[in-house]
Amino acid sequence: MRFQNPGFGLGLRTVHYDDILASRPRVDWFEALSENYMVPGGKPLYYLDRIRAEYPVVLHGVSLSIGSTDPLDLDYLKALKALADRIQPAWVSDHLCWTGFARKNIHDLLPLPYTTEAARHVAARIAQVQDFLQRPILIENVSSYVNFDRSEMTEWEFLAEISERTDCLLLLDVNNVYVSGFNHGFDPRQFIDALPAHRIQQIHLAGHSHCGTHIIDTHDAPVIDEVWDLYRHAIEKLGPVATMIERDDHIPDLATLVSELEQAREIATTARSFVAA
Ligand SMILES: [Fe+2]
Repeated sequence: MRFQNPGFGLGLRTVHYDDILASRPRVDWFEALSENYMVPGGKPLYYLDRIRAEYPVVLHGVSLSIGSTDPLDLDYLKALKALADRIQPAWVSDHLCWTGFARKNIHDLLPLPYTTEAARHVAARIAQVQDFLQRPILIENVSSYVNFDRSEMTEWEFLAEISERTDCLLLLDVNNVYVSGFNHGFDPRQFIDALPAHRIQQIHLAGHSHCGTHIIDTHDAPVIDEVWDLYRHAIEKLGPVATMIERDDHIPDLATLVSELEQAREIATTARSFVAA
């Protein structure tokens, strides 16, 4: 079952802390990067507590490494649970990927082979994490640049299978679908249409870098028109879904991101009225 839809959010970034507290922007919620706050104190946590007092917050991780063959990192899970218990996020998410092995985190979100064996492995680990955290988690599709020859199913079939096996929810990154669609030559609409709509809790939007022969998911630019079009398609298909914009480099001032977020509101509103008409 999905959580309530909080509306339109932004990724919480250090450079915006003071501006958020001073200007109280028209943002419905913020997504905080879990690993930046998984410490007992310090300035980031101070700001997160203050922003949490004013806005709903969700937690988004990059180091769960749900696809790795290493055992799950219990210290990481304990710190994540402590943060979640403190912040009481609307939900917690991470990526369908692995980020290293033999206890080495290379901080890259690496794709998995989409096999039944891998689906069983990932599903068992998602169940373990959900049990440990005592809350359902959201799993996000990553951008990828290579595929495994051994894959037995598509990425969207794999996502549907693991969510079915574990009852976890999905975070649909529309930009990642566009990036991977270009890099691997699939139709991004087919990806979105094949996902179980009732499990999609959140949408990410972001910009990327087009290198001619391939696209790199850099999160350093505004959302491009083709990704807005794909977002409109997703909302027509899925109905209202909590949506946010991720920016991790070349971060503009808060007002610029808030106005980009207004574009998402506008598209979601017109997409839904089109469907209703
Ligand atoms: Fe994302």
